[in-house]
Amino acid sequence: MRQGLFITFEGIDGCGKTTQIDILTKRLQKKNLKYTLVREPGGTKIGEKIRKILLDNDNINMEHKTELLLYSASRYQLCKQKLLPELDAGKIVICDRFYDSTTAYQGYGRGLDIDFINSLNKFATDELVPDLTFFLDISLNEREKRIGNNKLDRLESEQNNFHQKVREGFLKINKKNRNRFVKLNGKDGIEIISKKIWNNIERKING
Ligand code: TMP
Repeated sequence: MRQGLFITFEGIDGCGKTTQIDILTKRLQKKNLKYTLVREPGGTKIGEKIRKILLDNDNINMEHKTELLLYSASRYQLCKQKLLPELDAGKIVICDRFYDSTTAYQGYGRGLDIDFINSLNKFATDELVPDLTFFLDISLNEREKRIGNNKLDRLESEQNNFHQKVREGFLKINKKNRNRFVKLNGKDGIEIISKKIWNNIERKING
């Protein structure tokens, strides 16, 4: 039986996930609560190799379906090797992106069939569903301001139009999954956001 707590973070690039995950893990350490932090794509030896292929700017000719299958392949490895065993052992598991990113990026962004992606997401996770998903929402203008002159990977280098579709995708996914989604305004102050995140986690922990 699964007894742990599975928390995921989602949003377009530059939304502030990394900062918030950093604050959260520090808070958990302070409270002596054991957790595992992983990222997608990646999180395992095989997954990190897949990540390199996915984000490599040399792979400009990657087909959308190839991309979808590689993200899913990385995810299944992570689920079997880490997520499911850790959750079964009762741990808190934090994942920087999970299958909602596939629905948003490959489904709404690339235009691949959403029903098929929903089935594939179940297949590639053995039907593991997050308990809580923090969706940090920012506008496209804000994204541009934040990622500015950073060196961009293959996905980040996509046109604004693509990222707009991804953001709209996340907003739709949020509406359909209100039971586990917590939408946060990524433009709010770091402290305000981190407090809201913690309040939601505490509520879950305390039942
Ligand atoms: P990261 O920069 O947040 O680590 O994520 C890597 C990139 O991969 C990011 O641009 C979002 C993208 N991505 C997808 O397109 N589909 C997915 O399923 C996942 C997990 C990430």
